[in-house]
Amino acid sequence: MQKYQILNKINLSDTISLFEIYAPLIAKSAKAGQFVILRYTQAGERVPVTLVDWNKEKGTITVIIQAIGKSTVLFNTLKTGECFDSVAGPLGQAIEIKNYGTAAVVGGGVGIAEILPIAKALKAAGNKIVSILGARTANLLILEKEMQEISDTFVIATDDGSKGQKGMVTDALKTLHENGVKIDAGFIIGPIPMMKFTARLMVQLGIKPYASLNPIMLDGTGMCGCCRVEVNGETKFACVDGPMFEAENINFDNLMKRTSEYTQEQKQKLEEFEKNHKCKIGLH
Ligand SMILES: Cc1cc2nc3c(=O)[nH]c(=O)nc-3n(C[C@H](O)[C@H](O)[C@H](O)COP(=O)(O)OP(=O)(O)OC[C@H]3O[C@@H](n4cnc5c(N)ncnc54)[C@H](O)[C@@H]3O)c2cc1C
Ligand code: FES
Repeated sequence: MQKYQILNKINLSDTISLFEIYAPLIAKSAKAGQFVILRYTQAGERVPVTLVDWNKEKGTITVIIQAIGKSTVLFNTLKTGECFDSVAGPLGQAIEIKNYGTAAVVGGGVGIAEILPIAKALKAAGNKIVSILGARTANLLILEKEMQEISDTFVIATDDGSKGQKGMVTDALKTLHENGVKIDAGFIIGPIPMMKFTARLMVQLGIKPYASLNPIMLDGTGMCGCCRVEVNGETKFACVDGPMFEAENINFDNLMKRTSEYTQEQKQKLEEFEKNHKCKIGLH
């Protein structure tokens, strides 16, 4: 087996794929909440992705990646047997796993994959798990079975009502609250606006919120400052201080502004890539 070889690739939806990668050293020490940085070639972009699962015996890690830009679209074209040039990690802080009582885990889009290891670890620590999965429409939902298996309460919310409750995860959380479901702590991973409004609602409902932040990252080791975020009025580096933070006082607006600073360049790079690789995209 080659280092960083893709041992299994499964397409979970049109744009989301699961990769099981041979990375024994990372598998040995991975913990819930941590991430790795993948590079396909030595000169390639460094892409942070969350560790969704790991198997010490097999020496494998599992990541789930949504194709949204040049590098992730390229990753989506890779096949079982191909190799990443490098996988750095595990990076970031593991989340504090303890018995909070009842923990809500709220995942939006590919954030559902990122919340799964946290939900599993919280369940193993004795928490009751309330899962709320959100997506724009039913066929964008992933890992429903895996999430349902570990949940004491399981709710789906889709924007168009094609599955579960019609509306957003905040609507589902309100409904649970109105039905008397008591929640002590909430863990949120998804698009920035979803995390902002879910954290705000949790504070109103007396739930302690935590959110995993996804700023643009470069080195992933606290040196470049690229991933800085504002939490409780202080500057933090998401790669070494996070990515999960207490979410009462995260400056989500600043995070949103910083992650969209290169949108024009990112769009142009994706268009160039798609033009040059027409034959490969779509054949994964
Ligand atoms: C700690 C951490 C964990 C992550 N875990 C996962 C994961 O498990 N699965 C997964 O699919 N993605 C994850 N991401 C997001 C992933 O790193 C980005 O989607 C990826 O870097 C985009 O690269 P690209 O070249 O394909 O797109 P780019 O050309 O860089 O960007 C394309 C579009 O995506 C947006 N974008 C760029 N970077 C990010 C980002 N960091 N977060 C959100 N939107 C972004 C841009 O605004 C742009 O609109 C994580 C990010 C961080 C920081
Ligand atoms: S990515 Fe460079 S400091 Fe965090």
